[in-house]
Amino acid sequence: MIDATRPVAMFDSGVGGLTVLHECLVALPQEDYVYLGDTAWFPYGPRDPEELRARIRLITEKLLERGVKLVVIACNTATAIGEDVVREVAAAHGVGVVPVVEPQAEIAAAITENARVGVLATTNTVESGAYRRALEAEGRGLDVIEVAAPRLAPFIQDGSLFDEETMEMARGYCAPLREAGVDTLILGCTHYPLVAPMLQRILGRNVRLVSGGHAVAAAVQRTLEASGLAQDRDEEGAYEFFCTGPVPAFGEVATRFLQMPLGEVRQVEFTVPA
Ligand code: DGL
Repeated sequence: MIDATRPVAMFDSGVGGLTVLHECLVALPQEDYVYLGDTAWFPYGPRDPEELRARIRLITEKLLERGVKLVVIACNTATAIGEDVVREVAAAHGVGVVPVVEPQAEIAAAITENARVGVLATTNTVESGAYRRALEAEGRGLDVIEVAAPRLAPFIQDGSLFDEETMEMARGYCAPLREAGVDTLILGCTHYPLVAPMLQRILGRNVRLVSGGHAVAAAVQRTLEASGLAQDRDEEGAYEFFCTGPVPAFGEVATRFLQMPLGEVRQVEFTVPA
């Protein structure tokens, strides 16, 4: 029997999902959270989709084994490639799922004034067409300009996000978006809000950046309340971190990004069955 005292699980290929976790910690401070960074498999962006789906299945199973009450896919690539896998595994445990793509598409479609929406994302996410479909489903006849940014998340993940080289790279990725005159840009990777100031400078103040965190936190709240699983207490909940790669690398970058103490980070090793 799932009850409200269980934690909310969240996973990403690395530290990007912390941008989602942070919004949840603010919006729903009374909840407990378990965060898994699959750093041994980072980056998800260029991986073979079938292999990635097997990995996502395994990660979801491992999180469910911990007795969680909801699974948040805090990774756009995992959502684009394997949302159905997460839903299938979670449903077998009677657990709900909150993904990242759809909530962002809804916001972007609602706020664009010139009906030109950009999407900056990993190669897998762009090639999956997940955002294009979600934006088209909004029925506003939007022009969707998608740009794959294969090098951006790795620069953010390894902590060199404020380098001149990252700025130059961001300029290159933003060039087609500027040319197309988008007034709204979906940050289609949970790592990208960490370079939002850089992107905003390149694109100008009039372009509105839509990141996933806020919308996902709202979706988590709605889902927990609708299923009677929201924690009802005044005190702050706890959070714990796991990663699949080396702990020091994850811990150092994650603390910088979360800007809060992480506590003990534990390493877990998963092997995808052949
Ligand atoms: N945070 C992942 C995403 O949202 C990142 C990147 C990757 O693993 O390639 O897509």
